[in-house]
Amino acid sequence: MPLAHEGMANLNYSCSICGNTTSKWSGKCEACGEWNCISEDIGLSQGPTKSSLGKSRGSYIPLDDLKSTDKPLERTKCNLEELDRVLGGGLVPASAILVGGDPGIGKSTLLLQAAAKFATKGLKTLYLSGEEATSQVKLRAKRLNLDEAQILLGSDTNLRNILTTLEKERPKLAIVDSIQTIWSDKVDSAPGTVSQVRAAAHELTTFAKRSGTSIVLVGHVTKEGQIAGPRVVEHMVDTVLYFEGERGNQFRILRSVKNRFGAADEIGVFEMTGLGLQQVTNPSALFLSSRGIPSAGSCVFAGIEGTRPLLVEIQALVSPSPHSQPRRSVIGWDSSRLAMILAVLEARCEVQFSGLDVYLNVAGGLKITETAADLAVAASLISAKENIIVPEDFVFFGEISLSGAIRSVAKIENRLKEAEKLGFKKVESPKNTNLVKGLNIEVFENLDLLSFVNKLSDGKKKIRTEDQNLNV
Ligand code: TYD
Ligand code: MG
Repeated sequence: MPLAHEGMANLNYSCSICGNTTSKWSGKCEACGEWNCISEDIGLSQGPTKSSLGKSRGSYIPLDDLKSTDKPLERTKCNLEELDRVLGGGLVPASAILVGGDPGIGKSTLLLQAAAKFATKGLKTLYLSGEEATSQVKLRAKRLNLDEAQILLGSDTNLRNILTTLEKERPKLAIVDSIQTIWSDKVDSAPGTVSQVRAAAHELTTFAKRSGTSIVLVGHVTKEGQIAGPRVVEHMVDTVLYFEGERGNQFRILRSVKNRFGAADEIGVFEMTGLGLQQVTNPSALFLSSRGIPSAGSCVFAGIEGTRPLLVEIQALVSPSPHSQPRRSVIGWDSSRLAMILAVLEARCEVQFSGLDVYLNVAGGLKITETAADLAVAASLISAKENIIVPEDFVFFGEISLSGAIRSVAKIENRLKEAEKLGFKKVESPKNTNLVKGLNIEVFENLDLLSFVNKLSDGKKKIRTEDQNLNV
């Protein structure tokens, strides 16, 4: 089959969901299975013409020569610590950053605040809003008490004009909100289509590399959680950040999913208030602050997000199901992981969940991806099913394997230290936790899920006899 980059295939239709390109239009994308998402993709997709030699030679430098000529990359802090940490310690010059998130989650608010902080250092900062008029941005700035900030505002959507402005102003930081509103007159399709977004992102990232300006592109996320259309944009930029949170919940998490200049999976925590986003420097305390009195089905997981320990409450509810197929509903965790834990509990520990609806929730709107949450999830499920109240000074962590063994996890010391700091006294963990010395926290090590479940159930008997004694 001829390759597209040899210019032999005329690939000029693309899917706005996954970016797949095809040579003919169809109602359904063959790659992702979505309907009505294929549109004409004139311009960039055809690629360069059949291989030909350029007029001049490209220049290559031996790697070991670079250290003598190139200065190390100097980061500039935005003075918004949560954002700086997620970026890996500040903004790298000439980098391109994509900030994705649901509409209305607070991307524009975050970036306006970041731009204002950045500008206080006397560095030229440009905020281009393709979605709002400059007067609307000003109104928002006023609400955030930032109307004195030394930011240059624009509301252009034409890529050519934007590049001319950038070339003239040469700012240190430019924010383009959002990439879906930008259109290039070289590309013959509507703004927001894959080819337009790709062209705009390409030109803007090229400008960033050439000029030394750090460029932040805002991207909306589709219902599938992808940055609309172009996963291609994710490949072009250096850093991809997602701004997440539940509607109706004030917590917002900024998470790095790709970072060429720092750790991926790092998070920053913010709280949306009437005066914009406030940084949350001690998220564990905040996530646990609304815990209330201990109840069955609730326990605390000692997790790690990026480099930072984070304690969160896991809640489970198990109730008889009126449906022939019981419900399994998960918020903030992986639903197939829940199915696996339920299967291991059934197969290895003889705890039956058939005929029961199971609901699992991570309190505070946080999304956890760690498998270290397995043990906390199992404890919540047993606690909910057997109506056992887990004492409030306990935390849990550990990975469960299909055999029912409890496996060790990374960064145990950080988890224990954070738990101790927040006043927890006991921890249920995998084996080998005792290697961590000098902490005022009692560690109960577990080898397998069956004995862990038996221990929890024995606890129930004890609590019962104590209750009965009390009643006498
Ligand atoms: P916005 O930054 O416009 O979201 P995005 O750019 O991701 O679409 O945020 C909009 C929401 O934030 C809106 O629902 C109102 C809320 N908000 C506050 O609660 N407090 C504030 O100070 C501001 C500016 C917005
Ligand atoms: Mg916005």
